[in-house]
Amino acid sequence: MTHINQPTGFPTTRLRRLRYHSGVRRLVQETIVRPEKLILPLFVRTGQGQRIPIPSMPGNDQLSIDEFVKEVKEIESLGIGGVILFGIPEKKDAIGSDVMSENGIIAEAIKAAKDVVGKDFLVISDVCFCEYTDHGHCGVLRERKGTSMLDVDNDETLRNLVIQTLIQARAGVDMVAPSGMMDGMIAAIRQGFDENGFEHLPIMSYSAKYASSFYGPFRDAAESAPQFGDRRSYQMDPASSAEQALREVELDIAEGADMVMVKPALAYLDIIRMVHERFPGVPLAAYNVSGEFSMVKAAALQGWIDEKRIVLESLTSITRAGASIILTYWAKDVAKWLQ
Ligand code: PBG
Repeated sequence: MTHINQPTGFPTTRLRRLRYHSGVRRLVQETIVRPEKLILPLFVRTGQGQRIPIPSMPGNDQLSIDEFVKEVKEIESLGIGGVILFGIPEKKDAIGSDVMSENGIIAEAIKAAKDVVGKDFLVISDVCFCEYTDHGHCGVLRERKGTSMLDVDNDETLRNLVIQTLIQARAGVDMVAPSGMMDGMIAAIRQGFDENGFEHLPIMSYSAKYASSFYGPFRDAAESAPQFGDRRSYQMDPASSAEQALREVELDIAEGADMVMVKPALAYLDIIRMVHERFPGVPLAAYNVSGEFSMVKAAALQGWIDEKRIVLESLTSITRAGASIILTYWAKDVAKWLQ
């Protein structure tokens, strides 16, 4: 036990002295979750006076625009950083026309939200096609050359992504968040913006987005489950090397992403930490996804866990891993808990 007598060791050093007094504990905290760093995902649909509960995500509803507007005002008043919007269109088709129309659900939702919020509040759009296509894939389908397999055509989807994001820009969106994992999507959207006078609009890329089972409840919420196959030809393989995530992030930054994201959050804290260390200074977001929400919610409703403490601890761990922005379905609860 010779090391005990080192000058810097015990009994000179007692780390418990940092823990006895609650004021000292608070003073030495470094990882602090704040409502203004949170973004709340919202699901918007057509209709009037509609608040349709999402069974697998208790407390979350599909909202018609009038209800959505009320919700956004409340979210703003709670000091939350912003909302990210997902649309459930009246009609889906093969290419997802609704999200490329200025009268589509997302364009209408953006306009309605921007009409009621102040200039500090962010209205962000999730940029993808899976909620708007009848097949539920994230772009235009085509037979992969030399096979009979239908797959998302990367470059044709890029053209539609430019149309989609310009519609959202014209509707007044504050930032776009492309989530479709198409190669070159950031460069295409950036060029589309720059050529049309939107060089000031930032892009938050879902850079390292995994083909995850944790999205299950979301696909109910957004009615966006793929009607055949899966998303493994575009979203990342959970078992791929962590370096591949870094390559995705590096490419997105080179293509003009202003912020990058890792998704899901809790099962990918190592990736969050690596991105944070490799790209210091690049704002990093993490998406605490629907499956992560529903698991905790289900256990909490059973009375098996303390929801508030579990959530605050989880968000603390995501922050400590290196994310400075968190997308979470608990944003409102957290804002109330921290008041
Ligand atoms: C795609 C998108 C998805 C999520 C966010 N954006 C679904 C998917 O990739 O299948 C999932 C979010 C969550 O699970 O909370 N538009």
